[in-house]
Order: sequence, then C-alpha cells, then structure tokens
Amino acid sequence: MLAKKIGIDLGSSSVRAYVRGEGVVVDEASAVALERKTSRVLAIGREAAELLGRAPGHIEVVRPVRAGAIADLTACERMLEHLIQRVGGRQRWFKPEVVFCVPSAAGGVERRAMAEAAIAAGARQAWLIESPLVAAMGAGLSVVEPPAHLICDLGGGTVEVAVVSRSSLVVAHTEPLGGSQLDAAIVAHVRRRHGLEIGEVTAEEAKRAAGAAEPLDRPLLATVAGKDVAEGRPRTATVASDELVEALREPLAELAAAIRRGLEQIPGGYAAEIEPAGMLLTGGGALLRGLDRYLARQLGLPVRVAPDPRTCAVRGTGRALGELEVVQRRQIYLM
Ligand SMILES: Nc1ncnc2c1ncn2[C@@H]1O[C@H](COP(=O)(O)OP(=O)(O)OP(=O)(O)O)[C@@H](O)[C@H]1O
Ligand SMILES: [Mg+2]
Repeated sequence: MLAKKIGIDLGSSSVRAYVRGEGVVVDEASAVALERKTSRVLAIGREAAELLGRAPGHIEVVRPVRAGAIADLTACERMLEHLIQRVGGRQRWFKPEVVFCVPSAAGGVERRAMAEAAIAAGARQAWLIESPLVAAMGAGLSVVEPPAHLICDLGGGTVEVAVVSRSSLVVAHTEPLGGSQLDAAIVAHVRRRHGLEIGEVTAEEAKRAAGAAEPLDRPLLATVAGKDVAEGRPRTATVASDELVEALREPLAELAAAIRRGLEQIPGGYAAEIEPAGMLLTGGGALLRGLDRYLARQLGLPVRVAPDPRTCAVRGTGRALGELEVVQRRQIYLM
C-alpha cells in the first residue's frame, strides 16, 4: 500500500483537497468552528459557515483566510490538520505527502507554521507552493519549460496577476478585490432599485444564476428573497442579467484596473513570450459570464478561461505531487 498524496488549497471562500488517484475529495466553504477552550475543530465548511454570527458562546467560528491573507493562523493550522486527518485516513504506517498552497501574500512565519502544522497532523513531508504556480499546473500548462504564462486568479477575496516562468514566479501582484466585491455591489443595487434588503449569500447566488460582465444574447433572470426596506416584511424580487451587468460595472472596472496594475509590473522582456497566449483566468470569479470578453477588451490582450477554473489550483497541487522535482527545485518549503 502506498502513502497517500494529498493536495490542499486554502482559499478565502473555499477550501479544497485533492487526493492523487481519487480527484477533488473536499470542496467546502472556508470556515471553521472551534471549541474556544481547546481550539478543537468541531466543524468545517458549510456546517461551520452556517454558524457564523449565531454560534453558542463556547464555539468560535472563523474564516481562516480573508482577502487573500492568513487572517487567523491557528484556525488555518487546525483546518489543515483536520483535512489531512480526514482525507489521509488512519494509515499509521504510511504517512501522507502533502502539497498545499496559500495566498502568495502569506509571510514566511505563517508558511513555516503551516508546514509544521501539516507535519504535526501526520504528514511525512509538507510542501508549500505559491498559488499561481499550482493554478498554472492545474490548467495543464508546463511551468518548467518556456514559454512563460500569464495567469490571473479571481478568487473570493483577491485578484492575483502572476507570470510563471521556468518553475518560478516572475511577477505576483495581489489586490484585495474579488467576488465578494461583486456580491456587495449586487446587495447595494437590489436595495436601491427594488427597495429590498438582501444578504451577500443571496447576492452571490443571483450573480451565479444571472450575473454577467456584458449584456447576454439571451437574458437571464434570478429571484432574490429579502426584507422590504420600507415595510420590513419578507418578499422577493426578480433581477435580470442586464441589471446585474449595470450593477457590476463599477467593481468590474476596478478589477480591470487592478489587473492592469499587475500587468504593468511585468518586465518588458516577457512580452513576446506571453503575447500569443494572452492571459489565463483561473479561480471561481472566472465563471462570470462574458468576463473573458470584457477583460480582453479592457486590457487589449487575449483572455481565456481555464477549464474548471474553481478547482484549478487544487488540481494543480495534485499534479505537483507527481512532479516533486518542480517543487524541490523551487524549495518553497520542505520539511
Ligand atoms: N458561476 C459563477 N459566476 C460568477 N462568480 C462565481 C461563480 N462561481 C463562483 N464564483 C465566485 O468565485 C469566487 C470564489 O472563487 P474561488 O473558489 O476560486 O476563491 P478562493 O480560492 O476561495 O478565494 P481566494 O483565492 O481569494 O483566497 C466567489 O466570489 C464566488 O462568488
Ligand atoms: Mg484561490
């Protein structure tokens, strides 16, 4: 029996785990419920997220990663341990090898602490790789051979523009702008236009159901439930995709500007290598309808969406497990 190889992606909105040979085995909301006294994990994922703001006093619910940064190190460590134990099973003699990725903005102390937490949780080896590298690998690109790749990851809390070349990161520009800003814009729009107070979860659902960056050939509709602003009673409203295009205009323009600032940091020498393929979009935000066309127009370069962009990074950790020489050469973190 072989040791399991586990890949983990800790994001602001989701946490995912991949087991080599099995695929993506965990895809959950990035939240953890801890017993206050002991920091013991009581629940993770949706079960924990549902307790946000209404947990009993002895339970603390946290989002361990926020806006692309480690917001709560202890919670990150506990989450990592929980996942390794849950996914690795009880194979005492075959300790798993773990590759995980965290936001590139995570600092050295945090990285070391997390690698140590993985070892404490029973990993034989723990490797940490920056997200853009694994995102490129998850998209099936070679990160070892030329050409260089331009990757833009649109997460829940961050946008990250990176150039990956010959197993390393040439540029990594991160800004705290992500899907949540789009959700907030939808909340504000529905309040203004429909006099209805809705929550961010509802707004996010509407975004997925009918949101778009550009008007659609066949418009879509989404029904949202909330509370009437004037009368305080519950009611619903129907929002159309064209309205959402309007509501998202401003945050999308800000997103494009953030990406442009990232592009400005790319050394001129890479232009010829990157130009033909343009920019690859990964992360859940890449699923917004028409976003590739919108960004292509705004930025003046070809833009394409990676296959299954939400799980690109975690599938990339899976691939990294099979190409440990890439990881080793990078020497990101090894214990
Ligand atoms: N179909 C969709 N249309 C538009 N946005 C979507 C869709 N599906 C998911 N998203 C958005 O993608 C975002 C989450 O993306 P992802 O899972 O890549 O984030 P993350 O990795 O957890 O966060 P980060 O990388 O910022 O730490 C959320 O804002 C979510 O609303
Ligand atoms: Mg991510």
